[in-house]
Amino acid sequence: MAGFIDQIEPLRRAALAELRAAPDLAALEQARVSFLGLHGQLTALMKQLGALPKEAKPAAGKAVNAAKLELESALAQRRGELERQAARPKEPTDFTLPGRRRALGQLHPLTQVTEDIVRSFRKVGFAVADGPEVEDEYHCFDALNTPADHPARDTQDTFYLAASAPAGAPAPAQAAPAWRLLLRTHTSSVQIRVMARQPPPVRIIVPGRVYRRDNADATHNPTFHQVEGLYVDRQVTVGDLKGTVEFVFKELMGSETRIRFRPHYFSYTEPSFEIDFSSALTRRMGKAWLEIAGCGMVHPQVFENVGYDPEVWTGWAFGFGIERIAMIRYGINDIRLFYENDVRFLRQF
Ligand code: DAH
Repeated sequence: MAGFIDQIEPLRRAALAELRAAPDLAALEQARVSFLGLHGQLTALMKQLGALPKEAKPAAGKAVNAAKLELESALAQRRGELERQAARPKEPTDFTLPGRRRALGQLHPLTQVTEDIVRSFRKVGFAVADGPEVEDEYHCFDALNTPADHPARDTQDTFYLAASAPAGAPAPAQAAPAWRLLLRTHTSSVQIRVMARQPPPVRIIVPGRVYRRDNADATHNPTFHQVEGLYVDRQVTVGDLKGTVEFVFKELMGSETRIRFRPHYFSYTEPSFEIDFSSALTRRMGKAWLEIAGCGMVHPQVFENVGYDPEVWTGWAFGFGIERIAMIRYGINDIRLFYENDVRFLRQF
């Protein structure tokens, strides 16, 4: 018994000395293993406890446990010291070095162009409206007078969702297929949502993301951005449409910008046009005219669908791609650059 207790003190002292003097974490670990490890010296001593006479065990156990706790706390303390030491800078701080300023970020070029477009339309009284990107067939196609067999409705062209009508949606007034969900193919669906919930007049623009089943290449991407415009009032004319579009494009693309309308077809407008524009930017791209938008006078059937009287109300609508405007404006030749988020690209705007 006396022999056992006598072994503790020298072991304790040796261990403490080694732990406290460990010059680095590796040496500390070595010291831990040699005293407290599975085959360490103190562990070996503790294993002898069982062999002591019964009456000697309590005192011996108490003494060896106290030593163990002391060593463990010395170990933790030295580990803390060594870790703090390792984290300290190796070199002294040189206060004469120039400062480092955190670089300010900036808005994405598509956001900047969108904000410019919105700002121009605000000047002539348009408000920004919004709608869901997960849309149903009714708002995306049927209400816009798009026939069931129109190619845009094909699953080859549009991302349909497997789910049915959204939870809490009003009971479908239309035939069931019109409530199939899809990722909206254009922002034109928001025309319907806005007109269905407010009486005329309407003067809105709708910037937003749209989706199509296209493979990505230099001019296509499965998601891109559009701006929709809708103006409804009494006695609205094509002249209003032209004047407004001309004002906005001159603001966006420079005051010498010219626009022209070409006849086209959209199911939700009649007559319908495509808008071309010409400016220093198109000439830089080697083109006299570049197609930029679709537009037209709102089709009477669309007014019927939202409960507006087509005998009283007239209007126009347009839609164009934001990427296309940004590409022309900045001379960018690959649409994918917008989505890669390479800071070397983004920093330039
Ligand atoms: N929705 C059409 C598209 O995605 C663009 C468009 C054309 C919108 C004519 C309109 C419009 O509002 O009147 O290509």
